[in-house]
Amino acid sequence: MKNSTVYDCSIIELNRHHSDRKGNLTVVENKSTVPFDVRRVYYLYDVPGGVSRGGHAHRQLFQMIVAVSGSFSVTLDDGTVKRTFLLNRPYKGLLVVPGIWRTLDDFSSGAVCMVLASEGYDETDYIRDYADFLNLKQTLND
Ligand code: TYD
Repeated sequence: MKNSTVYDCSIIELNRHHSDRKGNLTVVENKSTVPFDVRRVYYLYDVPGGVSRGGHAHRQLFQMIVAVSGSFSVTLDDGTVKRTFLLNRPYKGLLVVPGIWRTLDDFSSGAVCMVLASEGYDETDYIRDYADFLNLKQTLND
């Protein structure tokens, strides 16, 4: 895991196929839209107001987070700098690289948070303790 920063994470503007009569369609395709191959998709929904999700970092996993409906905020933290993004459009994806602590808050009612991930589910890829996370980032900085 190289020592990533929050500035390695960014909003990816997704394409929008617009039709006046039929609404919109957005496509995500491996390589051309996201800089990794999507191996897993999951989504969060029915998140009660006031609840915070996430609260962990990943060692290897790349993700793109999309508010396919409603809105929520994502705070990214590299141990030194925090950046908060409000996601509220289905055509904007937030690329999150490995080694970034993330917290998701302020879910609107009906919000759906879709996550495209570069790997299958692997509990050993998670760093769930914030002190462990800071230690690891410090080690990588040395
Ligand atoms: P968790 O990662 O703790 O959710 P969040 O960080 O959004 O609060 O996951 C919640 C539960 O879902 C936990 O029991 C693990 C399980 N889970 C899977 O089985 N597969 C998956 O791909 C994910 C993301 C979670």
